[in-house]
Amino acid sequence: MEPHLKILHTVSETVSRTLDVEEILKTALEALTHVTGHEIASVHLVATDGVTLELRAERGLSQQMREVNRALTVGEGIIGRVASSGATVVVRDVMGSPDLLPSAQAIVRRDRIRGFVCVPIAARGRMLGTLSLGRQTNDPFDEGEVTLLEATAQQIAIALDNARLSSELVHAEKLSAVGELASGVAHEINNPLTTILGLAQLLLSRADVTPAVHERIALMADEASRAAGIVQNLLMFARHYPPERRPCSLVDAVQRVIALKSYQLELDKVRVTTELDHAPIVWADENQMQQVLLNLVQNAHQAMARQEGERVLTVRLRPRERHVAIEVLDSGPGIPANLLSRIFDPFFTTKPPGEGSGLGLSVSYGIVGQHGGRLYAENRPEGGAMFVVELPTGERA
Ligand SMILES: Nc1ncnc2c1ncn2[C@@H]1O[C@H](COP(=O)(O)OP(=O)(O)OP(=O)(O)O)[C@@H](O)[C@H]1O
Ligand SMILES: [Mg+2]
Repeated sequence: MEPHLKILHTVSETVSRTLDVEEILKTALEALTHVTGHEIASVHLVATDGVTLELRAERGLSQQMREVNRALTVGEGIIGRVASSGATVVVRDVMGSPDLLPSAQAIVRRDRIRGFVCVPIAARGRMLGTLSLGRQTNDPFDEGEVTLLEATAQQIAIALDNARLSSELVHAEKLSAVGELASGVAHEINNPLTTILGLAQLLLSRADVTPAVHERIALMADEASRAAGIVQNLLMFARHYPPERRPCSLVDAVQRVIALKSYQLELDKVRVTTELDHAPIVWADENQMQQVLLNLVQNAHQAMARQEGERVLTVRLRPRERHVAIEVLDSGPGIPANLLSRIFDPFFTTKPPGEGSGLGLSVSYGIVGQHGGRLYAENRPEGGAMFVVELPTGERA
């Protein structure tokens, strides 16, 4: 394998193995300093104050170099400017750079650092920090090396973003099985995508690809980032945040939830039928509505998976006079009559540990209530359960 590909591969492997930011930074720098064997490398991350750039990992820095780099300021010096502008800086001889901090000049000269490159680490429009590489030899960093650095910075950004999102998930008070499922799946999918994206970008920077091949690789990169975006949304979706009500299409919400679960439903041979015509627009938080639907579909799936026979999940929208009803029907065992009054209680579950926390319905009940609606359950005469979400239609409820 080409050395550059190998480096990127090492980094993405680490990203997929762990959420530990320190370990990811360490691995990335270790791999990068092997580009020619003469590099020193450092990662600065923006502190919570938004202006300090903290040295979070380094490799090959002398004691003094470490000292002057320990805390930098966004907007000042070469690294600080990369953090404020978001643009990569490549210099042939760092001693000649007008942006070099006066405090660093003597040390740069003593350590004989010449070529220098600094790239931003940013995710979803947020500046997270910088990744820098310097070297003592006279040859400047070429385009391929800069691309490698940018691709590595992107992987670090994704790792940082994932770590932040998952820690928010873990800290969320009411982490349902749904949230856990979503974050687990998102993490698993993100990593191979990161590798695909990084490798595609490296290939794009090569001179020996023909325009036709270039176009296809660009398409691959686009599609991989689109998929990565969907995964990020999934992580967002599993988080808890204040409701934002706006006109929302329940048809879209239902379809997204079914799409999200379709693979697992298919695996368990669940047939899905929908009746989604003529649904009025409701004034609701679409993410929360999706969460409610996902909980109901998840429950229906789990109930049916436990028994043999035909498995049918039906989701239908029923416009009524002043509200719309979303009905989720399954062909499972139904709910024992003596439990009907308890299933909406927090932590009430009949599932083994690990499969259910007993939060899905209580969280859903709360969300529907906040929307001025009603959530209730019935057993179907023909067997199986039916859950109904009633939401008021029209202007703000
Ligand atoms: N479609 C259904 N058919 C039969 N029983 C159901 C159905 N949906 C929910 N239940 C019963 O209601 C209980 C509570 O459901 P709830 O969604 O609140 O928690 P859970 O599914 O057990 O766990 P979690 O949703 O947190 O993963 C379930 O354990 C189950 O006994
Ligand atoms: Mg549940």
